[in-house]
Amino acid sequence: MSGFYIRKSGESIERVVQKSGALSLLGHGDGVEILIQEIKEGSISFLEPSRDGDLLEFFYVLEGEIACTNDGNEILLRPGDYFYSYNLSAPVELRPNSHTKLLYVSSRALFEYLSQDILVLKDILQRVEEKDAYTHGHGKRVRDISHAIGKKLNLPSRNMERLLLGALFHDIGKIEIPDEVLKKPSTLTATEFEQIKTHPVVGSEMVKNTFLEDTYDIIRHHHERLDGSGYPDGITGEDISIESRIVAVADSFDAMTSKRPYRDAMTCRQALTEIKFQSGTTYDSDVVEALEASIVEGLV
Ligand SMILES: [Fe+2]
Ligand SMILES: [Fe+2]
Repeated sequence: MSGFYIRKSGESIERVVQKSGALSLLGHGDGVEILIQEIKEGSISFLEPSRDGDLLEFFYVLEGEIACTNDGNEILLRPGDYFYSYNLSAPVELRPNSHTKLLYVSSRALFEYLSQDILVLKDILQRVEEKDAYTHGHGKRVRDISHAIGKKLNLPSRNMERLLLGALFHDIGKIEIPDEVLKKPSTLTATEFEQIKTHPVVGSEMVKNTFLEDTYDIIRHHHERLDGSGYPDGITGEDISIESRIVAVADSFDAMTSKRPYRDAMTCRQALTEIKFQSGTTYDSDVVEALEASIVEGLV
């Protein structure tokens, strides 16, 4: 069943080992993360006030013993005890007396900054973009254009989170395409085009069982078209997720406004005219409208 996840004892989505212990991601969604934090005996850590906006951090002691110092008072916490902070005003010191394991729930996504999976995928993305000088920075530009469109469409935060990651990594599957095909300045043969068309499937398989699993369909469907003329699945309309429909428009817009070996870059206006011409058939008309509004307001 989609949207339902089971992992057996000891399994996690990803585990990051740090000097002071380890952090394992158990689940995430809607900007919330559920983690297991392990802290080694003798290491001191601090619960810090949030620098930007509301932040809830909840900790439940599963194993070990940890001392919490707040306003000069030290309190010992053992399995079954818990503590949490919400809009904390000053740092709280945490000092484990033994190897401590905490269930940790955070209202803000932080794992993205620690994830080894993301570091590995970013490295692959860089290699993809270096393969072809004309696509340098393409992932980030598609992410920023998708962000502007998503905001115009009032996309909920849980959709926005996966949209931005899916947009950034949408072409990661191109790592498997031979350089001579990817860089070919002239028209592709039918066989070469078939090779190019494999990248959405390859890319989506690469994020399976990683922190980015949530972006699977965005990567797979960024070349699908509203009328079913796209690839790899030829799906139509709302069978293509809103995030994929946004990336499809942002991707085409960036491709058109970037210089290619066989043609000059179009201006924003020219590219928008081209995209509007296919609005409602190839592209989602609400998404196209949101792109136009973003351009008018100078957001793109
Ligand atoms: Fe692509
Ligand atoms: Fe692309």
